Amino acid sequence: MDRTELFNGTAPGRPAPVRSPSPLRDYVLHELPQDLAEVARGDLTHHQLALKQRELLTGVGPLGDDPRAARVTQLDLLFMLSGFVPGGPHAAPRELTELISAQCARFPGLDPHLSYELLIDVNSEEFERCGDIRVFSEGRLGALERDFYLGHHLSEPWVRSAAYGLRALVAAPDAVKPAAVLDESARCVAEFTSHMASYRKLSEQAFGHFRPYHMGHPGGPRGASGAFMPSVQLLELVLLPPTEEYGSYLDQAMSYFPSWARPVVAQWRSASSLGLNVAQSVRNGRLVLDEAGTARLVRLIDRFVDFRMVHLGITRRMLPEAFTDRTGLTRREIGAQAGEHGILNAEHPGTSGFSVRHVLTNAVHRLLELRREILAGPTRRG
Ligand code: HEM
Repeated sequence: MDRTELFNGTAPGRPAPVRSPSPLRDYVLHELPQDLAEVARGDLTHHQLALKQRELLTGVGPLGDDPRAARVTQLDLLFMLSGFVPGGPHAAPRELTELISAQCARFPGLDPHLSYELLIDVNSEEFERCGDIRVFSEGRLGALERDFYLGHHLSEPWVRSAAYGLRALVAAPDAVKPAAVLDESARCVAEFTSHMASYRKLSEQAFGHFRPYHMGHPGGPRGASGAFMPSVQLLELVLLPPTEEYGSYLDQAMSYFPSWARPVVAQWRSASSLGLNVAQSVRNGRLVLDEAGTARLVRLIDRFVDFRMVHLGITRRMLPEAFTDRTGLTRREIGAQAGEHGILNAEHPGTSGFSVRHVLTNAVHRLLELRREILAGPTRRG
């Protein structure tokens, strides 16, 4: 039995299936991927698709008052809207854009664009609850796309757990066993990386098929990207203070993180700037590590670098156009680069709108700088 059968209760003797609460569910789940494939083949125009969806929306009736149902309905509305991205900013029917704005006005927490939270978290939670998951692609490509979303959602708790463990360590180094926390965090980051690394198997064809729908329009909101997975940034913030370039990334990314994470990222950022991070705790002697402890911390940093280097390797394969200069991309070369590079106004902006190359290499560079500092030993300051 596959996972979908498990969740939608098709097996004999199972209780009646729980269904997704959105009235647009059946269209988005069962017809939209086919409609988009027809548009891609040239068998349907964006205009014809807009007329079809206009009719659907006119017949849908009031959308209800339940905030949880409103999130799933918003996911459906934004899947429909994102289907028009390849057609340009005016291809979508007015009824659709108006309904999205009306829902945002009624439910102030809703994202007006297909955010990471909606695409990855709300979408995957619906899959876990009732077996429904929204994808843009049909058939086998659709299954790979589903796994890409689920992969992000299911792997994040590993890195979140590493971040929170370290947060407890820097908050009260004497209340926990540093060796155990560092080992457990390194283990969690390695687990996270092994989940992410399974996307080595994702083909360029599958990724290239659904990526355009995540991109948004040039000049519009940033698209749904791993750059807005919050726990990786929490892990960085608890390890080292934010650099200027990283601060500018966080400023830009803040409203694109899932809603639960925005206050947490803001709070960890400000705490980290004030010294509540592993690097500063080692520097000022609040966290005393002997030789073995230092080796454990370096191992943890290495596991984090491994994640970012493996991810960089996958991204280089999937998006070669963002890496036309093949030099400067090894661990050694990134470690030796003079500093961070600008991530805004990129020649090859990714889904997130940041420079793909610079956002990913800067992230490795900062960790390698930290590693160097830790190995050089503590310089005690206040
Ligand atoms: C086919 C596989 C993947 C590709 C091609 C890819 C591509 C990218 C790109 C281009 C960026 C830069 C920001 C942007 O413009 O979007 C990015 C950032 C990021 N991605 Fe992915 N990604 C993939 C899979 C994953 C997976 C499975 C995860 C986690 C489980 C992940 C986590 C991240 C994180 C955390 C960032 C922010 C950079 C950092 O802090 O290290 N990505 N990704």
